[in-house]
Amino acid sequence: MLKLSRALFCAATLFAAGLAQAADPIVIKFAHVVAENTPKGQGALLFKKLAEERLPGRVKVEVYPNSSLFGDGKEMEALLLGDVQMLAPSLAKFEQYTKQVQIYDLPFLFNDLAAVDRFQAAQGKALLTSMQDKNILGLAYWHNGLKQLSANKALREPKDARGLKFRVQASSVLEEQFKAIRANPRKMSFAEVYQGLQTGTVNGTENTWSNYESQKVNEVQKYFTESNHGLIDYMVITNAKFWNGLPPDVRTTLDQIMVEVTVEVNKQAEALNQSAKQKIIDAKTSEIIELTPEQRQLWREAMRPVWQKFEGEIGADLIKAADASNQ
Ligand code: LMR
Repeated sequence: MLKLSRALFCAATLFAAGLAQAADPIVIKFAHVVAENTPKGQGALLFKKLAEERLPGRVKVEVYPNSSLFGDGKEMEALLLGDVQMLAPSLAKFEQYTKQVQIYDLPFLFNDLAAVDRFQAAQGKALLTSMQDKNILGLAYWHNGLKQLSANKALREPKDARGLKFRVQASSVLEEQFKAIRANPRKMSFAEVYQGLQTGTVNGTENTWSNYESQKVNEVQKYFTESNHGLIDYMVITNAKFWNGLPPDVRTTLDQIMVEVTVEVNKQAEALNQSAKQKIIDAKTSEIIELTPEQRQLWREAMRPVWQKFEGEIGADLIKAADASNQ
C-alpha cells in the first residue's frame, strides 16, 4: 500500500514538473550593438512584439540593445555557446566565418538599397545558409543604409583623408579601403567609437546617419561627407541547432514573423536615416559636405582597386552579379 502511494506520489510530481516545463516560455535573447531608434533597433523590438503576441506564453523575446549583453567581438562566440539566441551583426563582421559575405563591404558597389534588394533576392539566400556547418543560420537581411564619412577635418577629395586615422569595423576589406586612400584604418568595436573619436585615438570614421545620430557622433566630429560610398546591412542570425530544435509550429510562426519584420525594417530604413541626418543638421554641431559628381568620382577611383584585391576570396562572378544589380 505504502509502495503504491509512493509510486502515485512520484508520478504526480513528475506530471506536475512536466506541466511546469511545458508552461515555461522559450526565451530568445536578441542582442545587438546599436541604439533602439535605428533600423536594427526597431526591427528587434518589432520581432519581440509580434512573437509575444502570436505565441503568447510560449515565446519570450528579450532584446538587449547598445552592446548591453554582448558587444562586437564577443557576440558571435556567445551565440555559438548558446548564451544568446539571436544577433544581427553588420555584414562587415562575418569574415571569420565566410569570405563571400565580404562582398557587401566593397566600396562603391551598390548605388542604392534597391540594388541591394535585387542582389539579395537573387544571390543572397545561398549566403544565409553558407555558415550552417559552423552552426550559424542566417534568417534574413535587414538594411541600415549607405555609409557617410566623418572626420575632424573637411573631406572633399581622397587626398584630404591622407594620414588620418579612421575607425573601421572588423573587416579586412574596410581596412584596405582606407589604405587605398593612404589613411590609417583602426579596427574598433562599435561601443568604443564615440570615445575613440573624442580622445583622438581615431580622427574619423564611416557609418550611416542613424548610427551617427543615435551615438551622438556629431558631438565629436566637426565634418560629415555625404559620400554614400558603402553599405551597412545586417544578417539576422541564430544558432542553427537552437532554431532547428524549436517545436515546428513555433519555428514556422517565427519564420513568418521574420519575413514581415524584414519587409517593415527595409521599408523604414531610408526614412530613419534621413530623419537622423536632419537631426544632425538641426543640432548645428557639424558641417555636412555634399560632393560634386567630380569629387565623388575621385573617391570612387581611389577606392575601387579594393575590388580586385578581394576578387579571389569573394568570387568574380558574385561581384559581377552584385554590380549588375545596379541596373
Ligand atoms: C558598426 O560597427 O559600425 C555598425 O555596423 C554597428 C551596427 O550594427 O550598425
